[in-house]
Amino acid sequence: MSTHQRYLIAGNWKMNGVLSEAREFIRALAENPAPEHVEVALMPPFTLLHPLADKLSTRGVRLGAQNVYYEPKGAFTGSISPLMLRDAGCRYVILGHSERRDIMGEKNDTIRHKLDAAWNSGLEPILCIGEHLDDRKSGNTNAVLTEQLSVLEGSDAEKMLTIAYEPVWAIGTGVTPTTDEVRDTHTFIHQKLTDIGKDHRVLYGGSVNAANAAELLGLPGVDGALVGGASLQAESFSQIIQAAASCANN
Ligand code: 13P
Repeated sequence: MSTHQRYLIAGNWKMNGVLSEAREFIRALAENPAPEHVEVALMPPFTLLHPLADKLSTRGVRLGAQNVYYEPKGAFTGSISPLMLRDAGCRYVILGHSERRDIMGEKNDTIRHKLDAAWNSGLEPILCIGEHLDDRKSGNTNAVLTEQLSVLEGSDAEKMLTIAYEPVWAIGTGVTPTTDEVRDTHTFIHQKLTDIGKDHRVLYGGSVNAANAAELLGLPGVDGALVGGASLQAESFSQIIQAAASCANN
């Protein structure tokens, strides 16, 4: 059960984009305004948050960051606090992305602190979870997801949460799970969150593009998409937004 709009389409730019590209992107995106019942958000690199905030908000696009540190301020060279993200106009923050888990070595403990810090400052976390290919092949997907969701133990059920189910093997590969796999896994995640009474929604992420968006978004339990590569071009991102709009109308 969710009090959110039907679909959230969020673009995770990862470590891509400079100001001139971002300005051109927003100009092109504005040519196809998002329908009211589809929420659109963009997560550019930190350096683009302030410069894009007003331009995005006047076009109804929400802003998010790709990471945050959990301390409010102080001697943490190179880190950004939740308060700074709020100050820059962010509503969302992505946490626990597999690239941060696998490349930067982020563990559940850190992610749990970040979740609490985000909630406490009024940010809405988008918590990424997902299995590696060996986990999927050996039938361990649900066990891995359960372990990743354990960061929610003891958290305030009232605080809204968006989960992004991102199978690691589908990220940037052009490969997506079968529709049965997506449906079953989303059902599993919804059930877990319902059991702890959390207001939530579950996005799918991993090689979402203009060609497969309608099929993925049309599956029960898929409440939107977290899009990487295809969010870098306004044209493909707009097509995914339009796919969500047509699914919402069905
Ligand atoms: P791709 O859409 O490039 O596969 O990336 C997905 C992702 O990691 C979004 O957070």
